Amino acid sequence: MTDIDPQLSEEHIAEIRRGLLGWFDANRRDLPWRRTRDPYRILVSEVMLQQTQVDRVIPYYERFLDTLPSVEALADAPTSVVITLWAGLGYNRRAVNLQRTAQAVMSEHGGVFPADPVMLRQLPGIGPYTSGAIACFAFEAPVAFLDTNMKRVIHRLVTGPDLPKPTLTDRQLMAFAEQLVPPDDAWRWNQALIEFGALQCTARRPACVICPLQAACAAFPAIQSVIATLPPGTRKKQEAPFQGSNRYYRGRVVDSLRAAAGAELALSQLGPQVRDDYAPEHKDWLLNLVSGLQRDGLARIAEPKATYSTAENDEPLVSLP
Ligand code: ADE
Repeated sequence: MTDIDPQLSEEHIAEIRRGLLGWFDANRRDLPWRRTRDPYRILVSEVMLQQTQVDRVIPYYERFLDTLPSVEALADAPTSVVITLWAGLGYNRRAVNLQRTAQAVMSEHGGVFPADPVMLRQLPGIGPYTSGAIACFAFEAPVAFLDTNMKRVIHRLVTGPDLPKPTLTDRQLMAFAEQLVPPDDAWRWNQALIEFGALQCTARRPACVICPLQAACAAFPAIQSVIATLPPGTRKKQEAPFQGSNRYYRGRVVDSLRAAAGAELALSQLGPQVRDDYAPEHKDWLLNLVSGLQRDGLARIAEPKATYSTAENDEPLVSLP
């Protein structure tokens, strides 16, 4: 890793830029967040796209923005509305964090998004990728930022196969990404990197045979044979079982609270909706799960209301926040 020249030649930079931008112009999808420069809309799209595929995001994106068309509307909305708009997208914590970001834009910046990635980075819920994406896609700032797919593309173009393991560190990848951003065309460049990683230079089935960047790509001579020799287990990403996981049950609780439409549920009502085999001995487990959701802003736990106590009405009551 130490013998990698951190400096790309001018010719290599020009060749990569020309090839990738040309590919993008011919292959880009018409996506709703590519038709706006509104930082609020860009933020919503980027948060939704963090763990979810483009096709699934589009209807959620449209509906979310129809209901909450401005940063002010999102900041002022009941959190239960925001969580309900998120139903089906998964990773519900994203919804709560997105609203916290909007509230900070209102309270700390008078409702106006800062254009500087360093300032954006200080907002709650905004990491290095999202701050760069907003600075670039809303304000056309000439900045580099990298998600997993963009890293893969850069890795292959500048040093060679990223499989079975990357040979560049994130810091090295960022140094290359910064050299590659065209200062006067950063919006198109970063969208192109994302699109190329999604459609052409995919993790395990890159379309090298029809790739216009063959001549500029350090991985092209070797990547297909490297992929062919990987043991089957590493060719397709192994995913941890989802059903029965903590995240699965958290999602079931939030789904039940949404279906309750604002009503409070006792633990003994909630339990059977969360798992078919719910039994009284699961009560501590459920309370623990719900407490975690409360810490993350996804649930509210209220003390029992009854003035006299029975086994049923002695339980905490749970609702959306
Ligand atoms: N994923 C993250 N940002 C994206 C964008 N702007 N277009 C398509 N997919 C994305």
